[in-house]
Formats: sequence, structure tokens, C-alpha cells
Amino acid sequence: MTSTSPAWLDSVPLLALDRQYDRLRLQIREALERVCDSGRFILGPDVSELESELAEMLKVPHVISCASGSDALLLALMALDIGPGDEVVIPSYTFFATASAVTRLGAIPIFADIDPVTYLIDPDDVERRISSKCRAIVPVHLYGRTANMEALGAIAKQAQLPIIEDAAQSILSSFENRCSGSLGDIGCFSFYPTKNLGGIGDGGFLTTTRDDLARSLRLLRVHGMEPRYHHTLIGINSRLDSIQAAVLRVKLPYLNDWTTARQVNAERYAKLFSDYPLESHIVIPTDDPRGRHVWNQFVIRVKGGCRDALRSHLTNHRVGTEIYYPVPLHMQKCFEYLRWTKGDLPETERASEETLALPIFPELETFEQETVVGRIAEFFGVSKRTPHEAKTPAATVRESDSNTSCILQGRMPHVLSRTRSAGKADDVRS
Ligand SMILES: Cc1ncc(COP(=O)(O)O)c(C=O)c1O
Repeated sequence: MTSTSPAWLDSVPLLALDRQYDRLRLQIREALERVCDSGRFILGPDVSELESELAEMLKVPHVISCASGSDALLLALMALDIGPGDEVVIPSYTFFATASAVTRLGAIPIFADIDPVTYLIDPDDVERRISSKCRAIVPVHLYGRTANMEALGAIAKQAQLPIIEDAAQSILSSFENRCSGSLGDIGCFSFYPTKNLGGIGDGGFLTTTRDDLARSLRLLRVHGMEPRYHHTLIGINSRLDSIQAAVLRVKLPYLNDWTTARQVNAERYAKLFSDYPLESHIVIPTDDPRGRHVWNQFVIRVKGGCRDALRSHLTNHRVGTEIYYPVPLHMQKCFEYLRWTKGDLPETERASEETLALPIFPELETFEQETVVGRIAEFFGVSKRTPHEAKTPAATVRESDSNTSCILQGRMPHVLSRTRSAGKADDVRS
């Protein structure tokens, strides 16, 4: 420990949507008023404008908005005519909607394990799990990083299978200069408020480069109806509200800057973590050398079985964290009928036990990040490296587990009574 006590904030929120809203308050209110005055609340001009603006930004020919990211996945599977008995390969380490969209159609999710460094679906395991009943592959671009689409594309091509990208967490991420959503057959995105581009309620959209699928998706989101009261397909009701579209159009011009701010925060974490000898306790996430990581989440791995104790320590000091995802999908009660058991997907299960998401939102400030990292160092009882011990920031990856015990060491630092807003984002689901 250094002789002077560090001065840390007495709280850091996991997410603070109020900071974003404070800056856009007037524009958002004007947009809401315009929609209310227009009397057009479902689909309408704001929705089609938003679709065009997104298409231009993501460089895809077709954007089809819908009511949520969950519906986007369902609509994508419906457009590919996936139904009872069909198999769909997906990761188990993801949000529930990736699997429930499959099971709601009577199809069977086949879970593949993840790469332990990126937490993304492991292409080799995908290949092993493709059977003659397989009808699609759904990689998830988890936490804002694009899955290995080169390897997955080659596997899909060989097996003649379509790829549905679950890009709910990864708007504006890219892989070799192509945006997520333009790398497979259909891309599925979410406007859930915690996403990098979030609405003031639910919303989502689909992307595709295929004209035939775009046509089906546009029909499927309106009960398969065209013309009015004539139904060629059995679709669902999944339309985007004009109010969401109007608010999202206010936010869209800022998305690039917000994404850059997330990247800056990720780099700053790398530097701050490198100031402490934490390598035997913490693995920080790596950037994507082949693409653009958009850092919807900054998820660390906590070694030595200490994740939950570290989280309690941070919670006690009002540092917001979240566990994505504590129970992998193949272990969920509602999927017991699929007969997966513990041990089937070792890397997925290990990630569920060891990972912890830290605050990374664009408006996060430097001293808030210093507090997060300082509190983590405090938990492990380590102090800052001296100048001659200093090392360049680098992510430590593929290290074997240490057997660190979770003993709280070190002395309590002085707590600065400068309180930041805890934010109003009660639901921090990713
Ligand atoms: C990976 C993933 N897929 C799908 C979804 C579903 O999106 P939504 O909440 O908009 O239904 C989410 C969002 O939480 C997600 O993180």
C-alpha cells in the first residue's frame, strides 16, 4: 500500500441513462410532441426514415424494424421457415431470447460451447454439432464483439446453412470492415434501453442483404397481411412504435461518438488494470484485432472462485456490476426437456461462474473508472505498482487459473464523499 490513501467515489453506477437523457432532453421532447401531434403512432414516416438511416449507416440494403430484439430473432427464424423438429445451433452463453425464439417455433436449440478468451461461439464446436436436421446457425455477437464470421461463414457454406446473426448487443460492430448484420443472411438487433442505441421502451430491427427475405420479413411483422385483410403468410404483430422511432432518430447521429467513448473507456480500463499486479486474479477482455468492438459490456473474468465475493465487495461500496449470465441456457429449468447436463459445455459453464460486467457506458468518467479498479485492487489486497514495476497495458489471456483464495486484505481507503448519480436504469439486462 502507498502511504497516502486513495480518494474514491462513494458510488459508481453500472449504467446511468439519465446522463444521456440530460443532454438530449429538449430534442427528445420535441420529437415526442411531433409524433403526438401527428396522430400516427405505429410504423409511419419516422419508422421508415429510421430504417433508411440505419441502412445507410450499416451499409445494408434492407432494414426492417420490429417490436423487440426477441421478435427480430423469431421473425428471422420464421422467414427461413424453421419449424418443428428442425435444429438450430446457438451458444448457451447468451441472453434467453436467442434460445426461446427457436423453441417457440417447435425447433430444437443445439448448444455450442464458447471460446474462453472472447466468450463468443466456438466455430469448431459449431461444426461438430451440425447434423442432417440442422437448419441454421445463430452466432451471438456478445458484449459488442463480432463472432468469428470468417470461420462460421465457411462452415455454413460447406453445410449449406443460413446464418442469423444475433447482433442485439453489437450495433456498429464490424468484422473485417463489414458491419454486424451484413455478414450473415439476417441480422437481429435490439433497441432495449441498455443497448448502445436504446429507445425509451422496447424495439428492434432486422437487416438482410437478400431481397426475398426482406419481403418475407416485412410481411411477417404485420400478420402476413397484404393487401389489408388478406393474409398470404401467418405472421405476428411486431411493429415499431413511431414514438420509439422518433426518439431513436434523435439519438442515431450520436451513436458513433458514443461508441468511440466506450472504446476509450475500455482502453482506460486496460491502463488502469495494468497499474496494479492483478494478473493472477483478473482477466480483462481483449479488443478485436479483426474488427470493431463496440463494448456494450466490459466483462472481466475473476479467477480462483472469487467472483461472487468480489461482486459483494463492490456492491457494498456501491459500485454497480452485473453477471451476464449466471445460469447458461442449457442449464435453465425450462430447457430440462432438452436433456443437457452440467459438464456438457465446460467453457460456457466456467464463464457463467467467473465473469462480471463493470460499468462501461459512454458518459462514465475517469475517476469513476479509477474507483472501480481501485476497489477491485482493494479486494485482492494489492497496491499500485511502483514506477519501476510498471508494465504496458495488455490483456492477459489464456492463462490457467490460479488458486487464489478470496481473503480480503489491505486497509480501507478514504472515501471521497463526492456522490455521482446512481442513474435511473433499474433494469440493467443486457
Ligand atoms: C444477445 C441478445 N439477444 C436478444 C436480445 C433480445 O432483445 P430484446 O430485449 O429487445 O427483446 C437481447 C437483449 O436483451 C440480447 O442481449
